[in-house]
Amino acid sequence: MEMVKDLQVFNQVLSLKNGTTVPGMGFGTCRIEDEKIADIVEKAVGVGYRHIDTGSAYGNERGVGKGIRNSGIAREDIFLTTKAWPYEMGYDNILRAFDGSMNRLGLDYVDLYLVHFPVMRDHYEDWQDFLLKTWRAFEKIYNEGRAKAIGVSNFTDKHLAVLQDHAEVSPVINQIEFHPGWTQFDTLRFCAEHDIAVSAWSPLGQGALLQSPVLKAMAAKYEKSVAQLILRWVLQHNVLPIVESKNPNRMKENTEIFDFSISSMDMKVIDELPPLLIGPHADNGYMLVEVDIQ
Ligand code: A2P
Repeated sequence: MEMVKDLQVFNQVLSLKNGTTVPGMGFGTCRIEDEKIADIVEKAVGVGYRHIDTGSAYGNERGVGKGIRNSGIAREDIFLTTKAWPYEMGYDNILRAFDGSMNRLGLDYVDLYLVHFPVMRDHYEDWQDFLLKTWRAFEKIYNEGRAKAIGVSNFTDKHLAVLQDHAEVSPVINQIEFHPGWTQFDTLRFCAEHDIAVSAWSPLGQGALLQSPVLKAMAAKYEKSVAQLILRWVLQHNVLPIVESKNPNRMKENTEIFDFSISSMDMKVIDELPPLLIGPHADNGYMLVEVDIQ
């Protein structure tokens, strides 16, 4: 896989390990309601975003699909991700869930289909087997060309190891919570070793990081906004940011991160900011705490 940190311009594409390409910055939709999202997706596409991220759990696939159809941009020029929620896991369930997502989106393929969380609550004891059954359905959907690529979300290195050992088609992306204060460097290392791209949900910590005095002072030094500084930090860690905004000015601001570079000393300062966990995470029951998955 090419390096995210080598991207020179907004929307430059990266090749994933199965040969598909993904535009280097994604637009997130997680907390935007179905009634509002079509218009917002249309605006994001208007600003230039070509990589849109949703999930069945967001309850907004209908609106996202409508926004894409209304954008006037050809379907093949947009990279769309959706995800299967834990209660959709299992072989037959996933096949049904995928059809449901496609019906709501009103599309006949997605660019990327993700397992949203590694563990379903009713399957703690046999989570590895259940994950593999789930993944077999993902592989079928991939082999049929209905998802151009398949991957996972919220997987740690330990969850990923199960798939690495048994999958026929290995995941191309792991989308994780990644922002200053929550870095998961072990998972990043595992993904780099196995050529799995990493994308970041809530790179701005859902806005919580924008008030950080350390980040404010550093952003002023680079003559950038705090949001731009953080998104640049994400890229320089070779991670694809999936950033969300309802406001076209801020959507645009978030793309203007290719004309500066953060020094390695400042990268380290950001790396070491105090912990900030947005979740859902290890204790929500969908990941199992580390000690349980040894
Ligand atoms: P808004 O939609 O009003 O722009 P994350 O991607 O980490 O989940 O963060 C999304 C949150 O950060 C949203 O509440 C969004 O609010 C806000 N946000 C996104 N971009 C910016 C920006 N450039 N400046 C300030 N706030 C931003």
